[in-house]
Amino acid sequence: MLPVLFIFSTLLPAVAAADTTAILQERCASCHNLKGPASATLAALWQRKGPDMFYAGNKYRSDWVEAWLQNPKRIRPAGMFYMDHIKPGPKRDLVDTSTLKGHLKLNAADAKAVAAALAGLKANSALIKAEKHDASMAPGPLGEMMFDKIYGCMACHQIEPGYGGVSGSEMYTAGKRLTPEFMLSYIRSPQAWDPKIWMPNKHVPKDNMQKLVNYIIDLSKENFDE
Ligand code: HEC
Ligand code: HEC
Repeated sequence: MLPVLFIFSTLLPAVAAADTTAILQERCASCHNLKGPASATLAALWQRKGPDMFYAGNKYRSDWVEAWLQNPKRIRPAGMFYMDHIKPGPKRDLVDTSTLKGHLKLNAADAKAVAAALAGLKANSALIKAEKHDASMAPGPLGEMMFDKIYGCMACHQIEPGYGGVSGSEMYTAGKRLTPEFMLSYIRSPQAWDPKIWMPNKHVPKDNMQKLVNYIIDLSKENFDE
């Protein structure tokens, strides 16, 4: 599957970097919601073909977007909606990778232009402004304990490749992908960003929220070679 997509994307005519709006409309809008609002029903959420991008400028680190678009790697182990991509295994359900497709690749110039355009999509700024990240709140050994046992985050998120649940995005790259304010805000209220998302609001007290986010940032400092 991957090589086919790769060849396909390299054969597409090179689009001038200045034509960013055309790239977004023609090559991204069919899967990514660029205008909002978020899915209002479960049916719409389950049919979503890619993550919402209308608040990309408040969510992602732009340098990461630029690099990832040139060399995309899987972030959600079981795709956008995990129920569509799991199969029964001997002990528990397994991800059926044959049903997952690779992401299109952009050349360096297009990736730069597209990353800059996405950085300008700033819905939900009030949610971001309400957060203040405190990097000094070290999680210590409590980090993993909170993420795993106390708040049960690991049921859905992997803390290293293959270790953790598959219905949410991998956490060991989140610190590189996401702004700390977005992580704080999303943990505070997932439904404020995505009203129908299945991540529960765990009502994490504010100090523990800082520690969880610093724990997630620490996870990304280990370089997992995938
Ligand atoms: C066929 C559908 C499809 C198209 C077309 C598509 N994407 Fe995606 N995109 C996805 C899916 C699915 C993911 C989630 C990948 C994962 O979790 O591994 C994704 C992930 C991303 C991400 C990573 C962010 C995140 O939270 O996962 C970025 C950035 C992105 N796409 C940008 C783009 C841009 C820019 C274009 C157009 C040049 C584009 N995509 C075209 C389906 C698509
Ligand atoms: C029932 C499953 C579930 C549980 C439990 C859960 N999450 Fe999530 N989480 C999700 C899903 C689904 C998303 C949305 C992923 C996406 O964008 O497609 C998400 C998104 C996130 C994001 C944003 C990640 C991104 O890639 O955009 C962070 C940060 C996060 N969760 C942290 C946590 C923390 C911390 C906990 C525990 C307090 C937790 N989650 C518990 C399912 C879960």
